[in-house]
Amino acid sequence: MTTLLPVFDPYDYAFHDDPYPVYAALREHAPLYRNDGLGFWALSRHADVLHAFREAELFSSADGVSLDPAATGPHASKVMSFLAMDDPRHFRMRSLVTKGFTPRRVAALEERVREITREHLEVALSSDTFDFIDDLAGKVPMDVVSELLGVPVQDRAELRRLADLVVHREDGVLDVPEAAAAASLELIVYYLDLVNARRAKREDDLTSALLDVDIDGEHLTDEELCAFLFLMVVAGNETTTKLLGNAWYWADVHPAQKDLALSGAIPEWVDETLRFDASSQVLARTCAADTELHGRVIPAGDRVLLLIGSANRDERVFPEPDAYDLRRDTSELLSFGNGTHFCLGASLARLEARVVLEELVSLVSAYEVDHAGIERVHSVNVRGFAHLPTTVVRR
Ligand code: HEM
Repeated sequence: MTTLLPVFDPYDYAFHDDPYPVYAALREHAPLYRNDGLGFWALSRHADVLHAFREAELFSSADGVSLDPAATGPHASKVMSFLAMDDPRHFRMRSLVTKGFTPRRVAALEERVREITREHLEVALSSDTFDFIDDLAGKVPMDVVSELLGVPVQDRAELRRLADLVVHREDGVLDVPEAAAAASLELIVYYLDLVNARRAKREDDLTSALLDVDIDGEHLTDEELCAFLFLMVVAGNETTTKLLGNAWYWADVHPAQKDLALSGAIPEWVDETLRFDASSQVLARTCAADTELHGRVIPAGDRVLLLIGSANRDERVFPEPDAYDLRRDTSELLSFGNGTHFCLGASLARLEARVVLEELVSLVSAYEVDHAGIERVHSVNVRGFAHLPTTVVRR
């Protein structure tokens, strides 16, 4: 008997609405899936996705980790920095950046994250009804990245607008929209100016710290610095906004879990949301050599998608994976990747999400999302909401 497999098209708006039944079918019937039309393979089981993350030499990042043709190829690292490099080049760059992006710098941000959150909350909660994304979740992460990098307050709204444009994709369109390409260019130009300003006069920010990083006489070039600043916006901003929105939404549709969340199970709320509906769903790799998996051979040079969103719902690792359950063990989640490219900002992302939700829960005893007004973001990689209209009850 043959099983009818759904077509897995990561550009399809209907797929964005609910990718999980498609993932379940892939895990069950086509753990190594091939889409001839779009020219990629896909791995959907937890063990395979984890294996690919760990075998970074074989599953190479050097041609970029996005499906977008414009961001694929040896030039990918020009905008995606060391995310789109293999070791040893990746290791060298990441080590240089890690010297500036220290745990101390991240931990020191907690108080500023709280202050930034309170500022936005004061405005949002001036009415019982507000948009969770526009008024809060969309603002805090960009302000935190900007704070870290040293972007002045008056430029932050414009940078947020550009960052949103960079990741937006049109229904069924394979290529990067013109507006996204133009926004990318504007961001790069902005960061080049920032680097030049800090070169002239250092401040207490990461950009200044990175200018002074020195490992055995090696420094980051302007081009390397700009690519890293650009990566921080794309990697650190959208994903955290989406994590917050997903937490707010999924607790709303699971009232018993919402009770737990509102009574203080905040770290559990953050991690179960990361597992249940990861904001970064898909990463691409390129096979460096012919690779046999599940009885088929992926030829060298072919693109392979790692379906993080599917791995996190794999029943082989997470019992009852489709249940949103704040009390479960989430330690095997793959939402921040694994191995040499493991998310550099994972602890910052968790810190931000925890602080924002803690501050909210300290002021709000109940809330409801207006489902008629919800709008999803359509992006191949980032999963989450553009609008979540919300009504709250103040404590
Ligand atoms: C919920 C929020 C976040 C999610 C889901 C997320 C997810 C990821 C994932 C899956 C990777 C691995 C990419 C790969 O293997 O190709 C990654 C890498 C990275 N992330 Fe995050 N991230 C988040 C927040 C952040 C934040 C807040 C920052 C910094 C401000 C950040 C900076 C980075 C950087 C620099 C890398 C590249 C690491 C490398 O290639 O060595 N991320 N992130």
